Amino acid sequence: MPAPRVKSSRLLIAESGHDLEGHGLKRTMSLFHLICFGIGAVVGTGIFVGLSDSIAEAGPAVVVSYVLAAITCVFTAFSFAELGGAIPVAGSSYSFAYAGLGETWAFLVGWCLLLEYGISISAVAVGWSEYVNELLDSVLGLQLPAALSHGPTEGGLVNLPAVVLIGLATMLLVRGVRESARATAVMAVVKLVILVVFCAVGFTAFQDGHLSPFAPEGVAGIGAATSAAFFSYIGFDAITTAGEESRNPRRDVPIAILVCIGLVTVLYCAVALAAIGAIGSEEAGSRPAALSHVVDTVTGSDVGGAVIAFGAVVAIASVTLAVTYGQSRILMSMSRDGLMPRVFEKVSPKTSTPVTGTVIIGVVFGLVAAFVPLDGLIDLSTIGTLAAMAAVNVAVITLRRREPELERPFRVPLGPVLPVLGVLFCLYLMYETGRRTWVQFAVFLAAGLALYLGYGRKHSVLGSRPTEEPPVLAGR
Ligand code: ALA
Repeated sequence: MPAPRVKSSRLLIAESGHDLEGHGLKRTMSLFHLICFGIGAVVGTGIFVGLSDSIAEAGPAVVVSYVLAAITCVFTAFSFAELGGAIPVAGSSYSFAYAGLGETWAFLVGWCLLLEYGISISAVAVGWSEYVNELLDSVLGLQLPAALSHGPTEGGLVNLPAVVLIGLATMLLVRGVRESARATAVMAVVKLVILVVFCAVGFTAFQDGHLSPFAPEGVAGIGAATSAAFFSYIGFDAITTAGEESRNPRRDVPIAILVCIGLVTVLYCAVALAAIGAIGSEEAGSRPAALSHVVDTVTGSDVGGAVIAFGAVVAIASVTLAVTYGQSRILMSMSRDGLMPRVFEKVSPKTSTPVTGTVIIGVVFGLVAAFVPLDGLIDLSTIGTLAAMAAVNVAVITLRRREPELERPFRVPLGPVLPVLGVLFCLYLMYETGRRTWVQFAVFLAAGLALYLGYGRKHSVLGSRPTEEPPVLAGR
């Protein structure tokens, strides 16, 4: 059997350094930018739109679901922190899989990231469109006609706001990361402030009695809500895609990931408790825009709800920006390796950004958002994300054996225990996404494998480079 094509961490880093000397990406992002970038990618549709669904499934025990989803993320966040610090390049899980698991797995992980990032671009933009209508309604008393705000399967023609949002995100990213990082930082701060204000308002009306019964649907309800709650955490790993644009990636990437996930967990639990404590889980679980409703009920006016709707519009827009950015960087890494067409790796000397690749992503996922409804997109995105995360946990273990001497500014504590637990949690949440999603995922993976065998394997730069230094295996 031929040896697996594995890329050493040294080669991955050297390749990105080479680009930085030429027409590569600029190192402009500070630790603060990275944390804001993470929050920008994470806090969005999940908490503003999905919270009520999770409450409907688990009742007040939704807090347990958020903690379980967070634990899954924390295990994997440790693994991302170790790999992101040791291999600070743009490809995220894809690059880590290349170093830890070999090219075939790396391709499949990159393929899964099309679900995590690409499909999220569309799903999140479709969710944004709903909130734009809500905001227009509460501020101006206007609604966009259904024909222009919903896809064909939902009684409309085209989801125009979703397309406009993706178009704007694409334009901003094409202009350059400095502007994008600044815009993301502002949006991240705005949504944090809005959610903190929401908690402050909600807790003034907190009633203990609303917390019982605590788990009306029992363990099954908590499990289903955990899978739904996980969507609210998707995106923290986007921080690793900014590795090549970070000023001090080895130190800042691990810190930013752990700070981001910790902050967001506390915030989600507080928001869920504030909402349930104020109006009870039955009412909070039956309202699609529960947060606006809570504030309206507590303050007795429409103004607070409009402010929350504004926050949702800002929050969801920044998620779109971050996931579009992440997708462009991942495809760029795959293209550099010859596994995807070369067009994705071309960085414009004028803007220092991958202009054509970003525009292609905007067009493709803009079309998906224009015509495909939200149903199922979220589950598909969730299962793809979890599969990629499971692979990252495995890559930590294999890379420690393969490259024990690699400098790791951060190491996952307790040896392989946490990564193994990370894999198990990911598998459990994948199981909770249901049969239909599994079937779709299997078809998607089969298409990916066919693409790899038909294109990627033949064009692979690593495959045509016999001079790659052999990996050092522990114990040899
Ligand atoms: N975590 C992101 C959101 O909730 C995808 O919008």
